[in-house]
Amino acid sequence: MSDPSLLIICLAAGKGTRMKSRKPKVMHAIAGYPMLGHVLSVATEAGADELALVVSPDMSENIPEMTEFHALMESQFENATQFVQPRQLGTGDAVKAARTALEGFEGEVVVLFGDTPLLKSSTIRSLRACLREKASIAVLGFNAKNPSGYGRLLIDEGGSLIAIREEKDASLDEKSVTLCNSGVFAFRSETLLSVLDKINNQNANGEYYLTDAIEIARRDSLPVQTITAEEQEVLGINTRAQLANAEAIWQNEKRRSAMANGATLVAPETVYFSYDTQIGRDVLIEPHVIFATGVRVGDGAVIRSFSHLEKAVIDQDCIVGPFARLRPGADLGRGVRIGNFVEVKESRLEEGAKVNHLTYIGDTHVGARANIGAGTITCNYDGYSKHRTIIGDGAFIGSNSSLVAPVTIGNGAYVGSGTVVTKDVKPDSLVVTRGPLTEKEDWAAKFRNRAGRK
Ligand code: UD1
Ligand code: CA
Repeated sequence: MSDPSLLIICLAAGKGTRMKSRKPKVMHAIAGYPMLGHVLSVATEAGADELALVVSPDMSENIPEMTEFHALMESQFENATQFVQPRQLGTGDAVKAARTALEGFEGEVVVLFGDTPLLKSSTIRSLRACLREKASIAVLGFNAKNPSGYGRLLIDEGGSLIAIREEKDASLDEKSVTLCNSGVFAFRSETLLSVLDKINNQNANGEYYLTDAIEIARRDSLPVQTITAEEQEVLGINTRAQLANAEAIWQNEKRRSAMANGATLVAPETVYFSYDTQIGRDVLIEPHVIFATGVRVGDGAVIRSFSHLEKAVIDQDCIVGPFARLRPGADLGRGVRIGNFVEVKESRLEEGAKVNHLTYIGDTHVGARANIGAGTITCNYDGYSKHRTIIGDGAFIGSNSSLVAPVTIGNGAYVGSGTVVTKDVKPDSLVVTRGPLTEKEDWAAKFRNRAGRK
């Protein structure tokens, strides 16, 4: 028999006051990707047939602060239906905002919080399994080292969950409980519909708490069950310090998985990845390397210390850095070498090309095995628009040259050191622009004597 249908409701309308930010809390990033993106990806991975997102009125507006949010939803989660919660009256009220999604639906409903970004889809599966076996509501709990701020799971002598008590409403005894609510719930759809209307706001915050669903279900003799997850996986992010903590946990997991997949990290704690970084086998990553978003590294490549890479493709056996800066659109063919203080942007370098020192390569195509000398600049911008530079296979660009784009250097051509190239160069030519060298013998000695210097 196939699994029952799954509706996932993600709550993201909260004000996030504690972030002290203009943007919605759920749009703050972990590993270069908004928390909301992490949560919705997990919901998708968990096999949601329908995805409902509860947002605040601000978020549904077309204002500059929400551009990033709308772009995320349109580009990656078009299938999610957005529901506006008119006023932020609590998590119970937020679920009510998605009521129309619920009404036409029969099956299992999982509620997730947009501020719990490290949750895994396997945990959602376990929670559903628990629901299916024996409950009308299944709650994901965890044992908190410091439970303050979380709702506590109150368990009776028989081990069943009797209520969830929010911090502000808890007695001293209840506050000493360390088993906490992660915020992740699974419901039978009919159970959720029946308890929703019974949730009131008689509590310290005057809010409608989704957590009250437990006591209501118990009163109606509906079975409630709990499973637990590791605290690390269900951290709720309310402050920027908690955001940084979640980032650290995410980075550690990624470092471990990169190593498990065959990369060597000399000092893993100094390497930072993004959510989409792809690292091949036998890649060596030296200390202090940063992978911003959109980087793919092929097998056998070496990324040396203090390099910063973003939206760049690095093919097999390349050597990059130390101190390299690969900006968006850097595309390195096999065995390319990028040395220290080299910046590459929007450029393809073919197999075996070398750019070893102090150079800017922008909007350029570099042919196979071309050698770019120290201090070469592709002058790609005239103050209004960008222009392209084409450097042929096997070309040699002497040190301290400027290539003023648009310009083409033919295959095998030589550009003499210090040249400013302003027109195309034929294959196998030499070009050089240089003032004549004059030497005045003894000039320096006379100068020093005149000035009375030794
Ligand atoms: C909530 C739980 C608490 C749990 C903790 C886990 C309740 C009442 N409390 O507390 O038991 O231990 O999460 O992290 O459920 N939201 C809305 N609309 C609202 C209010 C909140 O969409 O009106 C969304 C928020 O955007 C957020 C989530 O619901 O993603 C949780 O809200 P938050 O205010 O952070 O709840 P906590 O106080 O952390
Ligand atoms: Ca929270």
